[in-house]
Amino acid sequence: MSKAETIYLKDYKAPQFTIKTCDLVFELFEEHTQVTNLMSIERVDARAKDLLLDSIDLEVVEIYLDDEKLSEKRYVIEDEHLRVLDVGDAFKLIIINKIYPQLNSELEGLYKSGNIFCTQNEPEGFRRITPYLDRPDVMAVFKTTLVADKERYPVLLSNGNRESNFRLDDGRHGATWFDPHPKPSYLFALVAGDLGVVQDKFVTASGKYVRLYIYTDRGNESKCKHAMKSLKDAMKWDEEVYGREYDLELYNIVAVDSFNMGAMENKGLNIFNSAYVLADEDTATDANFMGIQSVIAHEYFHNWTGNRITCRDWFQLTLKEGLTVFRDQCFSADLNSKEVQRIEDVDALRERQFVEDASPTAHPIQPDSYMAINNFYTATVYEKGAEVIRMLHTLLGAQKYRKAMDLYFDAFDGQAVRTDDFLWAMSEAGGIDLEQFKRWYHQSGTPKLHVDEKFEDGKYSLTLTQKVPKAVDGSEQKPYFFPLKMALLDESGKEIEAKTLIVSKESEEFTFKVEKKPILSINRDFSAPVIVEQSHNDYAFLMKHDTNSYVRYESAQSFGLQTIESMMRGKPIDEEFVKAFGLILDEEKLDLSFKALLMELPSVSAIMQRQEVVDFEMICEAKERLQKHLALTFKEKLLGIYSENHTPDSKELDAQNIGKRAIKNRALKHLCALESDEVIAVANAQYNNSVTMTDRIAALDVLENSSPEFSAVALGHFYKKYNRDTLVMNKYFSILAASHRDGTLDRVMALQNDPAYNELVPNLVRSLIGVFARNYKHFHAKDGYGYKFVADKIIDIDKINPQMASGLAGSFKIYKKMNKVNKKLMRAELQRVLSEPSLSKNVYEIVSKILKV
Ligand code: BES
Ligand code: ZN
Repeated sequence: MSKAETIYLKDYKAPQFTIKTCDLVFELFEEHTQVTNLMSIERVDARAKDLLLDSIDLEVVEIYLDDEKLSEKRYVIEDEHLRVLDVGDAFKLIIINKIYPQLNSELEGLYKSGNIFCTQNEPEGFRRITPYLDRPDVMAVFKTTLVADKERYPVLLSNGNRESNFRLDDGRHGATWFDPHPKPSYLFALVAGDLGVVQDKFVTASGKYVRLYIYTDRGNESKCKHAMKSLKDAMKWDEEVYGREYDLELYNIVAVDSFNMGAMENKGLNIFNSAYVLADEDTATDANFMGIQSVIAHEYFHNWTGNRITCRDWFQLTLKEGLTVFRDQCFSADLNSKEVQRIEDVDALRERQFVEDASPTAHPIQPDSYMAINNFYTATVYEKGAEVIRMLHTLLGAQKYRKAMDLYFDAFDGQAVRTDDFLWAMSEAGGIDLEQFKRWYHQSGTPKLHVDEKFEDGKYSLTLTQKVPKAVDGSEQKPYFFPLKMALLDESGKEIEAKTLIVSKESEEFTFKVEKKPILSINRDFSAPVIVEQSHNDYAFLMKHDTNSYVRYESAQSFGLQTIESMMRGKPIDEEFVKAFGLILDEEKLDLSFKALLMELPSVSAIMQRQEVVDFEMICEAKERLQKHLALTFKEKLLGIYSENHTPDSKELDAQNIGKRAIKNRALKHLCALESDEVIAVANAQYNNSVTMTDRIAALDVLENSSPEFSAVALGHFYKKYNRDTLVMNKYFSILAASHRDGTLDRVMALQNDPAYNELVPNLVRSLIGVFARNYKHFHAKDGYGYKFVADKIIDIDKINPQMASGLAGSFKIYKKMNKVNKKLMRAELQRVLSEPSLSKNVYEIVSKILKV
């Protein structure tokens, strides 16, 4: 079995040596790559005798210490290390080693995506390139020379600025790059390929000229406009909101098709999953455009929060990720609709992070142990981490928050630091004691906030009780400190009182003097990541009248949940909810995207999270019944909304047109519950006439789930048109993998042999297998075949790419809460995975934690 050693934060030790400079030469060939690595190294800890470098799967050719070639007695190649014996206080070390990027299917270190050489070194990829002190608290100045065949790889890139180009006689050429900013190895990058390029420029606030380049496979240049625009918007925003300018003359982005994640912030040379760069109206949905804008901004923002100031160790990951997600969320909110952005961010948090936080893999935003660090790029570290920063922003207010950020940059620029250092800056400049607040960094699970209201003689009192769950190991956890935005409304919806309460005790009472019994609007803007428990009948009122759009949305969701839950208990459909839903449809002045959100019923996952024992069949039955009832009741209104907003010829990306598409497609989705020929005809016409991918996908989704015949025709057409565009094929596979129709599993299995599918490409695996594993109906089928299939894929893919495989294993996280029948089936599959002889530590960590309950 795999060695699954646990690594603890408490065992952190400062590095014994440090690397001042690293000069690398990469000779790229078709079979192998030779790396020559010249490092100037200094001893930091006088007790250290040997130099222990991280090294995985590296073929060491030669080593020179201060120009003396070392005999094999002077070094030892250990399991994941290279040990150089008995070194001095300051020395030059040259290591020449061979690697095989063409065979690298893990996509960590140096690998090939199609014909492009590229790298992914966060968190621990660099040790697969050359022996190194591969940890973020060792920061060196890098110089990189690439040598490759000029025909095949005309473009040669690395971090920083290009210093020189040269030609060799044998048809090869080279380029040398120099990055003046010291950086950890995880930010190192190189790219070599035959790439198309799009160019632009940006002039910084202080007048510095920055050249911007986006590289992509030839033929895709026209699809880079939106990414380029987003980059310039992000550069401007960071100057305006955080006072931060870019610090090199060059900013390069390269799009590749094979990438484990979304994108990577390598200094001056971001490498992106092509899904987050390439877009035009014909091939990308509105959601894709928004995704590109936020990922481009996110990676750009890392230049200050991540690169200039980095993490001391990987336990501090949220220092850069939580903070940078908060920054990209604010950026998107400023550029688009604030209200819609907030609701979507909260939604994403609850769909993914709340589920994780309630599972055996729950962990604090700053974990204290891990087996595979790759498993900790989680919704918790990222999204909950962003919520924690947002709470600080709320507690300090915008001005002091900015002062605190300035202090953070001043105090720690150029360093590798801890979340505690960040909190010191917040506390110092914010003038606020954050000792109790720190629990958000060290405790796991989502706290519940129980709300009790009382009104008596002109006095309204609110009793708030925190119910903090136990940690995964069963230990008790303590109450949190957080800001709670609230308001009291009168019967017309006017605010009588609006404030931010500071909650810090397990239970506390807040009182207000009011004349009449007010209506409570609580956790406005979702100011704290808690689950509010409240029993009242004001949802209909708040849905319609609250001045806080988040609470309006939240009330619609809660009312929907309450309605579906009572249906699951055998009660008839609550007509009050139906009425409230109808009133939303009637509202004319609402922003269309916001209205589309108000019309959304609670997700299956949201319902599931509130069940003690999960039964998807029951959930789906009730939800579908409610959907059908709404569609029957409001058929005319929904058709009206559809036709009013269906402007088939427009493909503009402004808020108005995006809103029209959102609400029209929401109406169509609701109507789909009618299973009528009329609606199918509407969807079919939409597919045939659409000029945007947004409309095409919405129509396909409806057809696939309601009419096998029409779906087959439309999907056939779609396949023929787009089968050579891998980003569009992702959507094709996803629609089929998410289908509720009978036979989905068989079709998914067969699709693995489709020429457009490739198990080596993470995007394709995610859209076929990953989406299937989130298809409640078929993944959780009571015959157990859904589980068996996904378990088989975890085992297969683990041999190719452990990070991908452990991502798939995540779909079993709800195991603990499943009903008896499903639980037994899941257990058998999980145990089968665990008994695989050479399982990766990535999969081992996830599966063993899920089973340990
Ligand atoms: N630093 C990460 C990328 C990363 C982490 C790549 C670990 C490989 C392993 C990057 O900044 C990031 O967070 N990317 C996100 C997208 C972002 C918008 C949240 C991603 O790739 O999903
Ligand atoms: Zn990031």
